[in-house]
Amino acid sequence: MVELLPSILSADFAHLADEVKAAEAGGGTVIHFDVMDGHFVPNLTIGPPVLASLRKVTKLPIDCHMMIENPDEFVESFAEAGADWMSVHYEACPHLHRTLQLIRHHGMEPAVVINPATAVDLLIPALEMVHHVLVMSVNPGFGGQSFIPYSLNKIRRLRELREELGLNYRIEVDGGVAHDTIGLVVEAGADLLVAGSAVFSDGRAEQNAHELLQAAQLAAAESA
Ligand code: DX5
Ligand code: ZN
Repeated sequence: MVELLPSILSADFAHLADEVKAAEAGGGTVIHFDVMDGHFVPNLTIGPPVLASLRKVTKLPIDCHMMIENPDEFVESFAEAGADWMSVHYEACPHLHRTLQLIRHHGMEPAVVINPATAVDLLIPALEMVHHVLVMSVNPGFGGQSFIPYSLNKIRRLRELREELGLNYRIEVDGGVAHDTIGLVVEAGADLLVAGSAVFSDGRAEQNAHELLQAAQLAAAESA
């Protein structure tokens, strides 16, 4: 089943509850929450206090994408603030196995993320530990960038490995997912589809989410 994950990075933060409700009404089923530290990526965003506030206004699972150094230090505070899923970057975790265990220990679904220049096969030893793998289809740090086409090969490879290894992790894609690319990522095998600017940039979150999800479902039905 394909799911749309509205990324609130592009939402109007002064009206976050309304933005999330609109995206949910349009068919979004998981809220994607981007955490940046100004070190791992050249931008700063939000943390546990905003997460705790958001937790009160939606029942949807919240997917925390940790674009930070030393994510282990924040696992507990995000779990307490109400995170459901947590993904950490392969590039930021020298002890990835331990980090994934820690996330699960705190009751969240663990996931690993790879940047555009990181090979999927580096993840093989960790695949049995994850709820999903997140393929970055832009360089992390900002919304509204263009989709990197090579990401499609990485999604296909993850689908192939899942089959070969007999696993059942899900495949998430983040960056440049919009009307012109959503069908391609679904066809390649992604089923968790993050979209930021394509949902929130113009104040029509409900309608945008609805249209994106429809396009994704059409592509899924066609490639079944
Ligand atoms: C970027 C973030 C994304 C961002 C995607 O580093 O991880 O989640 O919101 O934005 P769009 O969908 O506009 O590319
Ligand atoms: Zn993200």
